[in-house]
Amino acid sequence: MGAGTYRSTRRRWQPGRAVVLGAALSLAAGPAALAAPADPTPAGSPTPNRAGGARGEELFRQNCASCHGQQGQGSQRGPSLVGVGPASVDFQLSTGRMPIPHEIPQPGRGEPVFSSDEIAALVDHVGSFGGGGPQIPRVAPGSLTAGRELYAANCAPCHGATGSGAPLTNGWIAPPLYEATSVQVAEAIRVGPGLMPVFPSQVLTDEQVNDLTTYVRRLGSEHLDRGGNPLGRLGPLAEGLVGWIVTLGLLVAAARWLGRRAGE
Ligand code: HEC
Ligand code: HEC
Repeated sequence: MGAGTYRSTRRRWQPGRAVVLGAALSLAAGPAALAAPADPTPAGSPTPNRAGGARGEELFRQNCASCHGQQGQGSQRGPSLVGVGPASVDFQLSTGRMPIPHEIPQPGRGEPVFSSDEIAALVDHVGSFGGGGPQIPRVAPGSLTAGRELYAANCAPCHGATGSGAPLTNGWIAPPLYEATSVQVAEAIRVGPGLMPVFPSQVLTDEQVNDLTTYVRRLGSEHLDRGGNPLGRLGPLAEGLVGWIVTLGLLVAAARWLGRRAGE
């Protein structure tokens, strides 16, 4: 896996250089440079209404090039992005894993920094470094029962039977699957981020990916039902109450009947 090779050879993160680099970039690109991603509306940007390609190039230069290189060739701080493919870039940006402020052991899920238009522009720009790599999958509803079996065989060993996630080796975790969208689930399957294996179409067909995304989304809603949703718990409670009222009623009736017998 690309990330593994990179991980074993890269040098330690040097904060000093990044601060200098960040400052230099801000100066070069104007005040909106590093602040821009936090505010998805390009209103205050010094370069409004530019074509998607130029926008992608600019965003990349400001937010990614310091680690991944101007041409995506990689550096000591980040792996090469040449040929990773649209699905990888979209997955990393839409799950809020990238950009990271500095090297961290396992970039995790968070609020996405960029709008969907900006993500699309960055996906295009990274694509211009070199072709290949998986496309962003198109997902459709699939079979829950088939998905359940595929999940048990291929995903549960790492993510757990209920999708709650689990620790792996070296402090890495397989994260919980409750927040991922259908497209993100399909992207993870095709891309194999971090320690996750890649499942190409020879291993899982597009139809099977649909089954899996449908089932993983179901795991998410079951999790909601188990945890936070009080309506999910009213059913059994109400039933229990009805049971008690019926039992009490019988007891009262029995006591009256016994009382009457005793009084006779
Ligand atoms: C501080 C350095 C840093 C910055 C800034 C950064 N990245 Fe990364 N990026 C990394 C590292 C380190 C990894 C490897 C993470 C891992 O091992 O899981 C990575 C991984 C990735 C991957 C996955 C590569 C693969 O092999 O599938 C993509 C795609 C990516 N980054 C895109 C971006 C984009 C786009 C930006 C800018 C919006 C960005 N990154 C900003 C350091 C950085
Ligand atoms: C060897 C363990 C392993 C297996 C098997 C595995 N994964 Fe993963 N998965 C991971 C790890 C580790 C990550 C985190 C990667 C990262 O953050 O860079 C991950 C991330 C994900 C994510 C992203 C979650 C999020 O909220 O951002 C999804 C979705 C996912 N996996 C789905 C699956 C599905 C579906 C399968 C089965 C087809 C599967 N995984 C099989 C280890 C595994």
